Amino acid sequence: MAASSPNEESTLSRAEFPLPRVPVILGPMAGGAGTPALAAAVSNAGGLGFLAAGYKNAAKLGEQIDQLRQLTSADFGVNLFVPEIDEPDPAGVRAYRERISTTAHELGAEPGDPLWTDDDWEAKVALLLADPVPVVSFTFGCPPADVVSSLHDVGSAVVGTVTGVAEAEQAQAAGVDALCVQGSEAGGHQASFNDAEERTTPLVDLLTAVRRRSSLPLIGAGGVMNAEHVRAVLDAGAVAAQLGTAFLRAAESGANPGHKDALVDPRYSETAVTRAFSGRRARGLVNSFMREHDAQAPANYPHVHYLTAPLRAAAGKAGDIDRLNLWAGTRHELAEARPAGEIVAAVADRLATQSDRGQ
Ligand SMILES: Cc1cc2nc3c(=O)[nH]c(=O)nc-3n(C[C@H](O)[C@H](O)[C@H](O)COP(=O)(O)O)c2cc1C
Repeated sequence: MAASSPNEESTLSRAEFPLPRVPVILGPMAGGAGTPALAAAVSNAGGLGFLAAGYKNAAKLGEQIDQLRQLTSADFGVNLFVPEIDEPDPAGVRAYRERISTTAHELGAEPGDPLWTDDDWEAKVALLLADPVPVVSFTFGCPPADVVSSLHDVGSAVVGTVTGVAEAEQAQAAGVDALCVQGSEAGGHQASFNDAEERTTPLVDLLTAVRRRSSLPLIGAGGVMNAEHVRAVLDAGAVAAQLGTAFLRAAESGANPGHKDALVDPRYSETAVTRAFSGRRARGLVNSFMREHDAQAPANYPHVHYLTAPLRAAAGKAGDIDRLNLWAGTRHELAEARPAGEIVAAVADRLATQSDRGQ
């Protein structure tokens, strides 16, 4: 890759990304959908399960890793948010607080305190160094090279999530072992290192562009729901696909039941990218909250995330899906309500049939 000369390359430590038997990786899903049971079910079926560490402190993450290890002896990964500096304009955040207050009050909640945290970054990295896991992936930024090399020292493979060629070059220069390439179809937050511009490149185009510049194993994420989509991602040069929305309705998913239903409800047929819920661009089903507040939402993550947190929690409890963040990829209507192991097995069977037929 252009970003690093052969000499620089040779100074980087490496680990091998453990390619699962079935080229299906569970997209890490912070905020409740991703559970140890879901990760275990995917790993046990021959895919690669992931635990999301985002929004959890290190102690909670440690507990979930222990639970996951009780449920599987197969490989799995843990995903961390790279903290980013956010210096909000206090007037903008105050105005947004006022704007969403009525909705919060209707739900019997108050807006939360807008704050910045590093999501317990140091403690979570320390935990993963003290008690290593097979794979660690990162989103929202480039993992620092010293963290990557410390993870290699303890035997973990490192994946950087990227949304463009420049980010891919940066992650490769930091020493990652594989790139998770996130196309614009993806549900949840855009993984971009910088949230200034919306990412609009579809997955296959992005994979093709990154493939030209990197020989690292690529994982394709965004809008992949079935074997045909996995095949398209493999044909575009990836070694595996990462699926989030396809597992949201799985039996082991911790997603809110209203969210699970909305994915296949024709009243919520459209998705859009919005900062209304968290201050960072994320794709979800279009609902009333998104329609009402999207245009005024300040670009302040995580401040806006904390501001809307009590409102989202109350909406979740009340099953009020018009006020809940309904993260979803563009092909959400194909999400199936069945055990996650069956979702992985269906992809594996269909891929095997296709290759038997020489397709
Ligand atoms: C509810 C939800 C939460 C997510 N949380 C995370 C996360 O914590 N870390 C991450 O790297 N990606 C996260 N993502 C992105 C997924 O890991 C995955 O890349 C994405 O869902 C792929 O697109 P798809 O939803 O169309 O399958 C999330 C996606 C969803 C739907």
